Amino acid sequence: MASPTLFYMWLCLVTFSQFNFILAEPAQADTYIIHMDLSAMPKLFSEHRSWYAATLSSISDVSQISTTTTTTTTKTFSSSKLLYTYSNAIHGFSATLSSSELKMLENSPGFISSIRDVQVTIDTTHTSEFLQLSPKSGAWPAGNYGKDIIVGLVDTGIWPESDSFKDDGMTEIPSRWKGECESGTAFSSSLCNKKLIGARYFNKGLVSHVPTVNISMNSTRDTDGHGTHTSSTAVGNYVEGVSYFDYGPGTAVGMAPQARVAMYKALWEAGSYASDILAAIDQAIDDGVDVMSLSLGLDGVSLHEDPVAIATFAAMEKGIFVATSAGNEGPWYGLLHNGIPWVLTVAAGSVDREYSGSVALGNGDTIVGKTLYPGNSLLGQMPLVFMDSCNNTNAIKKIGHRIAVCLDTDEAVGIQANNVKDAGIDGGIFITNSSSLELLIETSFPSLFLTLEDGQTVLDYIKSSSSPTASMKFKMTELGTKPAPRAASYSSRGPSLSCPGVLKPDLMAPGTLVLAAWPQTTPVTTLGSQSVFSNFNLLSGTSMSCPHTAGLAALIKEAHPEWSPAAIRSALMTTADAMDNTGDPIKDIGDNYRVASPLAMGSGQVNPNKALDPGLIYDANAEDYINLLCSLNYTMKQIKTITRTTTFNCSNKSADLNYPSFIAFFHSNDSSSAATIVQEFRRTVTNVGNAKSTYSVTLTSMDGFEVTVMPSTLSFTEKNQKLSYTVTIEGPRVMKELVVHGALTWVDSDGKYVVRSPIVTTRLNSVPIARKKS
Ligand SMILES: *[C@@H]1O[C@H](CO)[C@@H](O)[C@H](O)[C@H]1NC(C)=O
Ligand SMILES: *[C@@H]1O[C@H](CO)[C@@H](O)[C@H](O)[C@H]1NC(C)=O
Ligand SMILES: *[C@@H]1O[C@H](CO)[C@@H](O)[C@H](O)[C@H]1NC(C)=O
Ligand SMILES: *[C@@H]1O[C@H](CO)[C@@H](O)[C@H](O)[C@H]1NC(C)=O
Ligand SMILES: *[C@@H]1O[C@H](CO)[C@@H](O)[C@H](O)[C@H]1NC(C)=O
Ligand SMILES: *[C@@H]1O[C@H](CO)[C@@H](O)[C@H](O)[C@H]1NC(C)=O
Ligand SMILES: *[C@@H]1O[C@H](CO)[C@@H](O)[C@H](O)[C@H]1NC(C)=O
Ligand SMILES: *[C@@H]1O[C@H](CO)[C@@H](O)[C@H](O)[C@H]1NC(C)=O
Repeated sequence: MASPTLFYMWLCLVTFSQFNFILAEPAQADTYIIHMDLSAMPKLFSEHRSWYAATLSSISDVSQISTTTTTTTTKTFSSSKLLYTYSNAIHGFSATLSSSELKMLENSPGFISSIRDVQVTIDTTHTSEFLQLSPKSGAWPAGNYGKDIIVGLVDTGIWPESDSFKDDGMTEIPSRWKGECESGTAFSSSLCNKKLIGARYFNKGLVSHVPTVNISMNSTRDTDGHGTHTSSTAVGNYVEGVSYFDYGPGTAVGMAPQARVAMYKALWEAGSYASDILAAIDQAIDDGVDVMSLSLGLDGVSLHEDPVAIATFAAMEKGIFVATSAGNEGPWYGLLHNGIPWVLTVAAGSVDREYSGSVALGNGDTIVGKTLYPGNSLLGQMPLVFMDSCNNTNAIKKIGHRIAVCLDTDEAVGIQANNVKDAGIDGGIFITNSSSLELLIETSFPSLFLTLEDGQTVLDYIKSSSSPTASMKFKMTELGTKPAPRAASYSSRGPSLSCPGVLKPDLMAPGTLVLAAWPQTTPVTTLGSQSVFSNFNLLSGTSMSCPHTAGLAALIKEAHPEWSPAAIRSALMTTADAMDNTGDPIKDIGDNYRVASPLAMGSGQVNPNKALDPGLIYDANAEDYINLLCSLNYTMKQIKTITRTTTFNCSNKSADLNYPSFIAFFHSNDSSSAATIVQEFRRTVTNVGNAKSTYSVTLTSMDGFEVTVMPSTLSFTEKNQKLSYTVTIEGPRVMKELVVHGALTWVDSDGKYVVRSPIVTTRLNSVPIARKKS
């Protein structure tokens, strides 16, 4: 099996920063995360830490040490091997062990399982208006702007001086907070305030793997930018007069502007490891965060080997809401990560704000295109030369003081832009049909990206003129662009590999070209050959959509403190919009602009004002998730790795989690002669709307499938009453289409509540990766 890899979920403009790190074969000694059964701790020990230390020292491999060092004793050697003891996220510890030590440990009392530490090497917010957050009504005032909620992020750190983290107008820190503001390199604990209330950093795992590593910023200070961006997206305070080189000017504000932020830095430029991330989540649980935002993930691992899945199970049990990013590996099916049943998995979509420029042709025509060129806003009249596919840098160089026009017929516009940059000429106009322009339009030279249709106008003009010329203008911002949102091409698609029976992603939030805070000393881009700086940066990725939902969950948690993480997730999902701002179904940029499937966008675009008052919720608790794990045929040890020492047995197996969405697999090859298969689901909804209310079901038609709901009416007589229904989906043994989708919606008789669940039927492989191994 391929080694798991962890990713940052963001895309840097220009360079598509999708870091993919394949692990080398394990060296003789390696770092392991060890899961222990606390109930097996001998009475002799009063405390788990001393038990772990004793266990570790009992297995130390003395013979191997003596060959490498002559001075270390067994005891000190073993304690130096211990990286972290974990208390909340898992029961266990991480340590550097030789293979023989690991074998001995496996036979120690209380040992459950181990996983080799995985390298997590490096993976304005106009969006509040786009999501219709308003001080007048809805989620902002109802959720008190999140003032009592603490949002913890595991990320690259934070730039505490950013205006987004000022505590102007904020009330006292909730007294239950147990976190700390740790000092370190260029970070004094006095930098925390009533907004930034916690700052901790974790790099023992990194140092253990790379003992010679230089950690120049050994503190929570962010030198990468990612963590500053995600934190300010979730909870940034109001900052007036921001922009990205005059693009997108306005007031920046996070989703929950009064909520608190605690940063747990575990992603380092020199690399990031699961052991550090586990330590960060472990500490965040202990400190008392209410919401966690994790813009990172592990690819290709089953749930019991995924540190994010394992640690977030503990968080869920404590009532902590966890938002995660789906990944940036779209548009192909099945590459989604964090397909974890007890977290929110967030896809990314576009925003109704675009960045543009224009070209004025010598004949008087003006054409608008996309650009994020950060330099002068005007480029004077100069000759225009058509250079075909701009595939020859030397040929472009020869045209000299001119604008090159490049035609992209092969999704090669990124290469073309690089060639024009390398040629060092005055400007470039790129005619392209690319679906990933958000990654390309931030160029260091004057550039404009035109559609094929608009480009034809330029080409026709060049053909018709003996000496074609043009001037260019930049720094235009278009608001209210339509249609928006659209599912981003890069956003990873379901089904979830680790748990295919739960439809993922859950929903979509703004992820493309999101403007948020940035460290003052970290370049945002280049202009010519110079690095340039800005306190706000535009980034794209599911890393950007995830913190949006974390901030929105903070508002809902403030308004409904008694709701479980599953209830909050249900509210966000069942009220999400399936329609875009033209009133048509949301389209998918990565699928030829066809109607987006729930495998791309889940239930649709998050709608915070509606999520506050969803009418019905689909709740679930730890027991439900355990029953699901039991149905996936995990071994008891594998389940215990996730659930720690929760007492359970698998007498109530159920693959049918009470989830606000449905996915059914139709591709049976068994010998039965029946022409169709029937898949059945059972759901229970809790009434959180009006005490007396009657809901009726509506179904959209799904080609080739017969969907039936029983009963088709639900009559509630009191608040918090639960009622159940069943859904049967009958369809062909083997589907012709790859994916068919529809929706099941409960609408109350007043028409006030619309509780929508997407349905997917598919013949994509449903075998979870846990069972692919063996
Ligand atoms: C760390 O920095 C020192 C001094 O600058 C340098 O000699 C060494 O090669 C660096 N180590 C790594 C792993 O980069
Ligand atoms: C970072 O700082 C901590 C706390 O001062 C220290 O224990 C640790 O050794 C430092 N790590 C590195 C890699 O410098
Ligand atoms: C550039 O593209 C043209 C066709 O558009 C092709 O004939 C030529 O071989 C290409 N040159 C290079 C260097 O790839
Ligand atoms: C442009 O892209 C769309 C969607 O990806 C595709 O359907 C269309 O065929 C493309 N047009 C051309 C001329 O390449
Ligand atoms: C689990 O095992 C049972 C009994 O062997 C089998 O019927 C069932 O299909 C398995 N479930 C999954 C999800 O593999
Ligand atoms: C199984 O479900 C029944 C009925 O809901 C419950 O009484 C029982 O405790 C459950 N058993 C386990 C092991 O969860
Ligand atoms: C599982 O737990 C339930 C409730 O605790 C109990 O009634 C049942 O006998 C147990 N089943 C097995 C197989 O241990
Ligand atoms: C069914 O089995 C046949 C032959 O083994 C195989 O070619 C086909 O791909 C299978 N179809 C599905 C949907 O699994």
